[in-house]
Amino acid sequence: MAIDKFVSRHIGPREDDIKEMLKVIGVQSLDELIDQTVPANIRLKKPLNLSNGLTEREYFRKILKIAQKNKVFNTYIGMGWYDTITPSVILRNILENPVWYTSYTPYQAEISQGRLEALLNFQTMVCEMTAMPLANSSLLDEGTAAAEAMHMMYSLRSRAQEKAGANVCFVDELVWPQTLDVLITRAEPLGIELKVGNFKDAFATENWFGAILQYPNSNGEIEDYAGFTKTVQEKGCKVAVATDLLALALLTPPGEWGADIVFGSSQRFGVSMGYGGPIAAFFATRDEYKRDLPGRIIGVSKDVNGKHALRLALQTREQHIKRDKATSNICTAQALLATMAGMYAIYHGPEGIKAIAERVHNIARLLAREITKLGYTQVNKKHFDTIRIDLPRHVKREDIEWLSLDLEMNFRYFANGQVGLSIDETTNIEDINWILEVFAKAANKPVPVIDSIADDRSVDADIKRQSKFLKQEVFSKYRSETEMARYIKRLEKKDISLVHSMISLGSCTMKLNAATEMLPLSWIEFNGIHPYVPKNQAMGYHELMEELRRDLAEITGFEDVSLQPNSGAAGEYAGLMVVREYHKSRGDGHRNVALIPSSAHGTNPASAAMAGMKVVVVPCDERGNIDVEALKVKAEEYKNDLACFMVTYPSTHGVFESSITEMCDIIHQNGGQVYMDGANMNAQVGLTNPSRIGADVCHLNLHKTFAIPHGGGGPGVGPICVAKHLVEFLPAHSVMNNGHVGIHAVASAPWGSASVLTITYGYIKMLGADGLTEATKIAILNANYIAARLKDNYGILYTGENGRVGHEMILECRHLKTAAGISETDISKRLMDYGFHAPTLSFPVHGTLMVEPTESESKEELDRFVDTMNAIFDEIKEVETGVADAVDNVLMNAPHTAEMLTANEWTHAYSREKAAYPLEWLRENKFWVPVGRVDNAWGDRNLFCTCEPLESYK
Ligand SMILES: Cc1ncc(COP(=O)(O)O)c(C=O)c1O
Repeated sequence: MAIDKFVSRHIGPREDDIKEMLKVIGVQSLDELIDQTVPANIRLKKPLNLSNGLTEREYFRKILKIAQKNKVFNTYIGMGWYDTITPSVILRNILENPVWYTSYTPYQAEISQGRLEALLNFQTMVCEMTAMPLANSSLLDEGTAAAEAMHMMYSLRSRAQEKAGANVCFVDELVWPQTLDVLITRAEPLGIELKVGNFKDAFATENWFGAILQYPNSNGEIEDYAGFTKTVQEKGCKVAVATDLLALALLTPPGEWGADIVFGSSQRFGVSMGYGGPIAAFFATRDEYKRDLPGRIIGVSKDVNGKHALRLALQTREQHIKRDKATSNICTAQALLATMAGMYAIYHGPEGIKAIAERVHNIARLLAREITKLGYTQVNKKHFDTIRIDLPRHVKREDIEWLSLDLEMNFRYFANGQVGLSIDETTNIEDINWILEVFAKAANKPVPVIDSIADDRSVDADIKRQSKFLKQEVFSKYRSETEMARYIKRLEKKDISLVHSMISLGSCTMKLNAATEMLPLSWIEFNGIHPYVPKNQAMGYHELMEELRRDLAEITGFEDVSLQPNSGAAGEYAGLMVVREYHKSRGDGHRNVALIPSSAHGTNPASAAMAGMKVVVVPCDERGNIDVEALKVKAEEYKNDLACFMVTYPSTHGVFESSITEMCDIIHQNGGQVYMDGANMNAQVGLTNPSRIGADVCHLNLHKTFAIPHGGGGPGVGPICVAKHLVEFLPAHSVMNNGHVGIHAVASAPWGSASVLTITYGYIKMLGADGLTEATKIAILNANYIAARLKDNYGILYTGENGRVGHEMILECRHLKTAAGISETDISKRLMDYGFHAPTLSFPVHGTLMVEPTESESKEELDRFVDTMNAIFDEIKEVETGVADAVDNVLMNAPHTAEMLTANEWTHAYSREKAAYPLEWLRENKFWVPVGRVDNAWGDRNLFCTCEPLESYK
C-alpha cells in the first residue's frame, strides 16, 4: 500500500481482500466484474481528464493557499446573513464531530434519539422565539422557506377561493431581494400571481389567497403589521412573515400579532455565513395547519415500554407516500445546522440571547446617534440592528465605500444612494470606532472616539416583547462549557453514525467523509465570508468553485454546472425548471408532461409537480427494468406535450439497464428532454456518465457521491449539470452575478451552500482521476460481494443481464414474512441489537431492504454485516420452524435496551444473552439502544412537537 495515497485511505478493502472477494463473486478480475456489470455501449472510451490525486499533505497546502485568497472583512451588509460567534464547544463537539456529521436522517428512531432531541430543541426554540405552536426541523434557506409558505397558503385556500380561482399572493416590496427572486421562480409554474407592493397601500381583493411580509423589513425598519394582518385574514387570506430570531428577543413576535406562518433563517444563531450557506431555515405555523407543513417534523411518542421516545412525525405528508401530491419535495434539509442553532440557544439561554440582542440593538442606536452628529440622517424610524443613512450633499457614496474598504469593512449600498449598516454579535468598540472614522472622514469632521456601549436597552414600548421565551428547562441547564459538552456527549451516545458501523442505506451512499476534507470548514477564510461581498474578497472561493464546476462537468460529460441548489430534490426542481424554460424558448411552453418510472424516488414526482408538470407513471417489468415498450407507448401518446423523462441511473433497483440509451432516444424523438437523477452517481464516476447515456441534465448529490456528510438530515448540495443547449437557462441571482443568466434563483444564496463545496473539492483533488474511478469499481465490488454472500438466504430481487448488481442491491424479505411472520421492519430493529443501522426500508419495493455498502467499507466490516444478516436469517428460521415463539421472539421484540435486559423480571421465551449477545464480537463492542421499539402511530395521534416536560402532554 502506498501509505501517502489518499485513495488507499478512502477505499476499504485491501489488495488481498479484493482477490478473495472476486473469488466469492466468481470472477477473475475487477475489470471482468465491471465489464459484466456496466453495459459496454455506455462505457467511457477515455479516462477522466482530471488531475492526479494529491496526498493529504499536498491537499492541505493547496487548500490553504486557496483560503488565503479569501479576505475576511468586517461585514455590515446584513440582508439575511450576519457574522456570529459559533461557541467553540458547539464547533468542536458538533460541527467537527463525526458522530453528529456522519449520521443519517433519523428514520430509524431508536438509534437516533440524540439528534432527534437536538432537533426537537431547535423546533422548541423556533416556537418560543416566534410565539407559534408548531415548527418543523428546518428547511433549506429563507428564500425557499418563503416559497414553501406561499405554496402552503395556496394549498390552504378555502373551497370558495379555489372555485373563484384565487391565485394572487401579495408580497411586500421590502422582503429580501433574494427571497423575492425565489418566490418569482416558484410562483410561475403553479399559476400563482405575485403582487409586489407596499403593504400600506395594499388591499386584499377576492383573488388574493395570502400575503408575505418581512419583520424587520429589508430596509431594517420595524413596521406594525397587526392591522394589515387582521384585514387580510378577514378576507379569508393567510399571512406569512419572514423574521429574524434574534430580533424577536426584543420585538413582539409575529405569533402574538396574528401571523399564520413565520419563517426565516436561523444562521445568526451560531452558524457561520459560509459565503451563503449552508444555513438552516425555520418554519412555524398554527396547529391546525400541521398536515400542510413542509419538511420534517420531530414529534414526541413512546416506546414499547411506555418510555418517552422521539421520532419523525406525520410522515404521510411527505413525498415517499404522497409523491406528486406531497406538501413539498423537501427530503434532505439542514439538520446539522439546525442542531447547531438549537444548541446555541441552549448555551446562551433566554437571558444570553436577550443580552446579545440588546447589545446589537444598542450598538445600532449608538451608531445612529453618533453618525447623525456628523451631519448624516438616519432614516429608519424603528429599527433593531439595521440603520439606513442618508448622506449629506457634500458626502460622496464612493468616499464612504473606499474609506470602509480601506479599513476592511463592507457596508450595504442602497440603490437610492443611502448606506446601510447591520450590526451583529461580533461588533465591538474597536469596530464601532472604525465605522465612525469612515463617516467622519467622508464628512470632513473630527473622528469621534467611543469607549463604551451605553446600556440603554430602549426598544419602543409599542413593539417591545413582553412575553418570556425559551422557558423550557433545557434552555437554562447548560451554561458552563463542561455541562454543555456533557449534554452534547449524552445525546451523541444515543446515536449510530458512520464511526460506529457501516450504514448500508441504499440510495444514500454513506461513504467516508474524510477528516482532511472536513477540516477547512472550520477556517474563518471559508466560513467568515458574507455572500454579497465584492468578488475580489472571495477569490479563493471563485477559484475553487470554477475548478469544481469544470471537474463536475468532466465527470458528468456535460457543459456547465450550477452550484446553487441546496439538496438533491432542489436540484431536481432546478433541472426541471431549466427544461421548462428551454421548451418555452422554442415556443414549446405547452410541453408539461413528465414521464416518471414507478420505481422513482418520491422527490421526482413531487419536484415535477412543483415545476408545473403533469406526472405520467411508466411501469417496470418483472425484472425491475423500466418497461421500454410502455415508455415508447407513453412517449408517443404524449409526444405533443412531452416535457421530459426523469430517470435514475443505475436504476433505484440497483441495476444498470442496458436499454438506457434506447430510452433516451425514444424521449428525444418525441420532443422531450432527459433528466437523470444523480443519486446513484457513485456507480458511474469514471466508468460512464449521464451525457454518455443520453441525458440532457442531471443533478448530483454532493452529500452522497462526493463525500459531503449527511449531518443527520442535511446539509445537502444538489448542483445541476447540463448539456450545452441548456446552459443559458441555468439559475441566475438577483443580487450577485453568479455567472448564469437563465431562470430566477432557486435558492437564497448565489452559489448555494458554498462553504461545504470545500469537502467535495478535497474529495476530487485527493482521489484524482484514477482514484475516483477506482472508488466506483470498489463500490460495485463491495455490493456484488454482499450480494454473492446473501443471495442464498434472502435472494437478490433484481440483477442485470449478467446476474450482477450495480453499487447496491435489494434484498428480498417478503418470503420471510410469509413463512415466519417476520417483516423487514423486524429485521431492521434486530439489526440495532447487533449495532447496525438498517439498510433502506421498503424503497423502492415494499417488503424489501436495499443495501449500499459504498467503497469505503472494508471486507472485515462487510463480513460482519453479512454474518449479522445471516445470523438474523437463522433467527427467522427458528421462528418459522417453531423453535422460537411466533410472537415472543428476538426479532419482534427488538431492539432490546439495557433496561429491558436487566429488569428483575424476564418473561420472554428466549434468554437475555441471546437477545444481547447473539454473536461473539458483540461482547467487545456493543451499542446499547436507548429506547425500545417506538410507537409511531401513538405519536401521530397525540402530536406533540416541542420539548415540554412529559406531564404537560399526558
Ligand atoms: C434516488 C433519489 N432521488 C432523490 C433523492 C432526494 O435527494 P435529497 O434528499 O438530497 O433531496 C434521494 C434521496 O435519498 C434519492 O435516493
